Amino acid sequence: CNFLQIMNKVNAYGDVENVVMTCEDWKVRWEKKHTRFHISEVNSSLLKHEHLLLEKANCSVFVPLSGKSVDMKYLADKSHRVVGLEFSEIAIRDFFAEQNIKFTVEKHPSHPFNIYRSSDSAITIYQGDLFQFNSNVAGKFDAVWDRGSFVAINPSQRVSYCDVICEMLNPSSKWLLNTFAYDRSKYPGPPNDTSDEEISELFDTRFDVKLLEVYDSLNPAQISWGLDWFKVRNSLLVKK
Ligand SMILES: C[S@@+](CC[C@H](N)C(=O)[O-])C[C@H]1O[C@@H](n2cnc3c(N)ncnc32)[C@H](O)[C@@H]1O
Repeated sequence: CNFLQIMNKVNAYGDVENVVMTCEDWKVRWEKKHTRFHISEVNSSLLKHEHLLLEKANCSVFVPLSGKSVDMKYLADKSHRVVGLEFSEIAIRDFFAEQNIKFTVEKHPSHPFNIYRSSDSAITIYQGDLFQFNSNVAGKFDAVWDRGSFVAINPSQRVSYCDVICEMLNPSSKWLLNTFAYDRSKYPGPPNDTSDEEISELFDTRFDVKLLEVYDSLNPAQISWGLDWFKVRNSLLVKK
């Protein structure tokens, strides 16, 4: 699917242009099951750093662009209140079916979201476009778990993405951000390459940014994208 999308975005000179993904493009990916980004185990970066993200019990945790991430169930099982946000209805319904969780669905009375809520109310997933989401819809959050989210956003929309999430945080709220760095001349994304300078530019004024770790992680999927190196970066952002 990525390959086809890349081919579709080749310009008249034969150059691959930045692949811009719309919500509709993501919806089609879910329909066609082009979801290799999904992992069936709890994310290892979350397991490693959750003690820094969630220092107290009963936190409200936002999982933007949640897909059907099993991390939502993991966090809810630890007694946190989890709110996901996802455009694809298939992803949300798959999540509840695969995790064997009963749920209800209702329309938000004033904003363009369907609200999927587990019957114990521990997990709520809003279905709609992140760029229409704000604290009037679901309140403010203590923590954000961002895997496959920031990196899925088109680079041209990163500032808006950060604005949307920032508005839903209080001072001292924390954001665990998982990003990737690779040679973007070889693969246009998504997931989109993110440099240290970009993280600094986007976050330094509004957050204390702590680099937790950077490590090399080249796997067969990335080799098939023509990459020779692939770095994973985990950062903890604490709202000023
Ligand atoms: C790369 S996937 C990652 C999913 C999940 N975070 C994970 O780690 O498995 C990105 C997800 O964001 C969703 N998405 C992309 N743009 C969106 C938007 N503007 N609003 C809501 N969801 C969006 C896609 O449907 C997709 O499920």
